Amino acid sequence: MNEAQARKRIDKLREELHFHNYRYYVLDDPVISDAEYDRLMRELENLEKEYPHLVTPDSPTQRVGAPPLDKFEEVRHAVPMLSLANAFEEEEVREFDGRVKRFLETTGDVEYCAEPKIDGVAVELVYEQGRFLIGSTRGDGQVGENVTQNLKTIKAIPLNLIPSKGKPLPARLDVRGEVYLPLKAFQELNARRERDGEPPFANPRNAAAGSLRQLDSSITAQRPLDIFCHGIGRYSGTELKTQWELLEALRSWGFKINPHRRRCRNVNEVFLFYRELDALREKLPYEIDGVVIKVNSFRLQEALGTVARSPRWALAFKFKPKEAITRVLDIVVNVGRTGALTPSAVLEPVRVGGVTVSSATLHNQDEIDRKDVRIGDTVVIQRAGDVIPEVVRVLVEKRTGKEKKFRLPDRCPVCGSEVDRPEGEAVARCTGIACPAKLKETIIHFASRDAMNIEGLGVKIIEQMVERGLIKDYADLYTLTLEQMLTLERMGPKLAENILTAIRNSKKTTLDRLIYALGILHVGEHIAKLLANEFSTVEELSQATLERLTSIKGIGEEIASSVVKFFQQEGNQKVIRKLKDYGVEYPPRPARPKAKDLKFQGKTFVFTGGLKTLSRSEAESKVESLGGKASSSVSKKTDFVVAGEDPGSKLDKAKALGVKVLTEDEFLELVG
Ligand code: IVH
Repeated sequence: MNEAQARKRIDKLREELHFHNYRYYVLDDPVISDAEYDRLMRELENLEKEYPHLVTPDSPTQRVGAPPLDKFEEVRHAVPMLSLANAFEEEEVREFDGRVKRFLETTGDVEYCAEPKIDGVAVELVYEQGRFLIGSTRGDGQVGENVTQNLKTIKAIPLNLIPSKGKPLPARLDVRGEVYLPLKAFQELNARRERDGEPPFANPRNAAAGSLRQLDSSITAQRPLDIFCHGIGRYSGTELKTQWELLEALRSWGFKINPHRRRCRNVNEVFLFYRELDALREKLPYEIDGVVIKVNSFRLQEALGTVARSPRWALAFKFKPKEAITRVLDIVVNVGRTGALTPSAVLEPVRVGGVTVSSATLHNQDEIDRKDVRIGDTVVIQRAGDVIPEVVRVLVEKRTGKEKKFRLPDRCPVCGSEVDRPEGEAVARCTGIACPAKLKETIIHFASRDAMNIEGLGVKIIEQMVERGLIKDYADLYTLTLEQMLTLERMGPKLAENILTAIRNSKKTTLDRLIYALGILHVGEHIAKLLANEFSTVEELSQATLERLTSIKGIGEEIASSVVKFFQQEGNQKVIRKLKDYGVEYPPRPARPKAKDLKFQGKTFVFTGGLKTLSRSEAESKVESLGGKASSSVSKKTDFVVAGEDPGSKLDKAKALGVKVLTEDEFLELVG
C-alpha cells in the first residue's frame, strides 16, 4: 500500500468507526459485533502508526492517549452558560407560567418543552466546520476549564458532526449538555475505591465531576461517563425555531439527547409529564433531580430574556426528596480532615428510597438549633440526589419530655485542642495542628508544591508515616531517618534517599512559602504573601495583634482573627519552634521598593481573550508586582485593556469607553 492508498483506507476506516461508535454509544443499537469493531480499530491504529503524520485530532484513535496536563487552561464561553431558577411546588410553576404570559402580554397557552433535569456536570462542546474542537466545564458561567481531552474519552460525544441531507453543517456550533456517570458505573467505581482504600464519592454527580477534572485523561477513560445534550450557545447555521426542533437537530448531527422529553401545550401538560417522570425515576439507570421546563419558541425566549443569571423562559421543577420517619438514638461528632466538627444523628435504621439509612448529617450547631433536634426525637429524614441523608424536621408532637438537647463540645473529641467557631461562621473547627484527624491533610499541604515543595513526598507515603506514628506534626518530617523510611511499604533505599534529600532541601525556603505551609485557616498563598511583606519573621507574625493585622490592606477581620488564634495555641507555637530548631530558614526580607519606583502604581488593567506567552494569572501577578491592579471588569476607571486572542465583550466595552487597548506584545514591552 502506498501513502495515497493508505490515506484513502484511513479515511474509510474512520468513517466506519465513527458510524459504529454512534450506533453503539448514542443509539444503543450496534450493527456489528464488538470483535468486528475492534478489528477495524486495530487496522486504523496500525495504519496511523505507519503514517503518523496522517493522525488527526478527530480520529477515533484519539479518544485516549494525550499526555497528562499540568493544569487546565481557561476557556471563555462565547455565550455565558446560565443557571436555572428552581421551583419545588406546582404553585411556583403556575406562577412562572403566569409571569411568562404577563411578560408576553398573552392570555393564551404558552407551549413548553419539558426535559429531565440530569444530575450531572454541565459542559460545553465547541464544533467548528463540523469538528469537535474544545470542550469545557461550566465554571462560573463565563469562564470554564478546558477538559477537551477528557471529553474526547466519552464515546457518545461525536468528534465529527453527521451531515444531514440537503442541509449544510453549521460553521460554528457550541453544544451544551450534562455529563453523568450511570448509576451502575458509580456503584462499581465506589466499590473499587473502597477496596483500594480510597474515599468513595458521595454521589454520582461528584464522581462525574471528579472524573471530568482529571489531569490525566487515561484515568477519565476508565470511567464510563456519558452525556445528554440539551442546548446550544454560539451557533451559526440554518435557523432553528424551537427548543424541540433544536433537540431534533442535535440528534440528527449525532448527539445523544434524552428520550424522555415532551412538547407540552400548556402548564397542565407539564404537570402530567412531571408526575410520569417522577414515577419512572427510580427505574432510570442515571440520576435526575427534576424537570426542566423551557418556553418552546426561540422567538418568545428572546423576548423574555434573562434576569440576573437565569433566563426568564426556563425553570427547574425539582422532585421531592425521598422521606422517611425514624428516631434519633444519639448525636455523635466527627472531626473531618480540615478539622471541621460535624455532628451527625445516629438513627434507628430505616429504608428511604430503596436504601437503609442509619445516620444522617446535622451539618452544624446552627442547624441543630434551628431544627431543634434532640437525642430521642422522632424525626423526618430525607435522601435527596445525594447519598448522605439529612434530618428535615422534628415531629414535636411525639416528644415525651425525655429528649436531651445537644451541644458541640468545646474541645476536639480527637485531640483535646480548643474548638474555635469564629463569629458569624457556621463551622466549628479543631485548632490543633497536630490533631491526628487532620494531620495527614496538614502535612500534605505543608509538603505541597506551592508550600515547602518537598518533591516525591506523596499522599500515600504521608498517610503511612502518620498511621505508623513516624510523624506527629510537620516539623517531625525533619527528624526522619533512613531506617524509619525503609519501614514504609514500597520504599527502597534509592527512593528513601531522594525523599530525605528533598525534605532537607526544603529547609531553605522563603517566608511567604513558610507562612502558607503552616496551614493557617483562611491563609492561602496570596494572604501569605501579604503577611510576608509586612513581617520579617514568623516570630514577629506570631506576636501580631488583631489591630495590626487588620490594618494591612487585603486582610479582614476573619483572616486576622484566624491568624491570632492559630498562634495562641501553645501546641502550634511548639511546632513552629521545632521547625526553627531543625534549621528551616528563609532569607531576610528585602528592602521594600518605594511606591514611586513601581511603574504601574495606581494603574488598573483588565485582560480579555487568550494570551500566547503567559497565563492570565501570570499576567495579573506581573501587574500586581509592579504596583498595579488587575480587575475583571472594564469601567471608566480602567487604564488599560489587554486584548489577547478571541477577545470577549470587554474589548467592545473598552472601545466604547475610550479605554486604551494594548496587544499582548505592547503589554510585554510595557512590563519590560
Ligand atoms: S438547560 C439556561 N436542560 O441544570 C438554562 N439544563 O440549574 C440552561 N441541566 O447548568 C440549562 N439537565 O447543567 C438544561 N435538560 C436540561 C438539563 C439542564 C440538567 C443542568 C445544567 C444547568 C443546570 C441549571
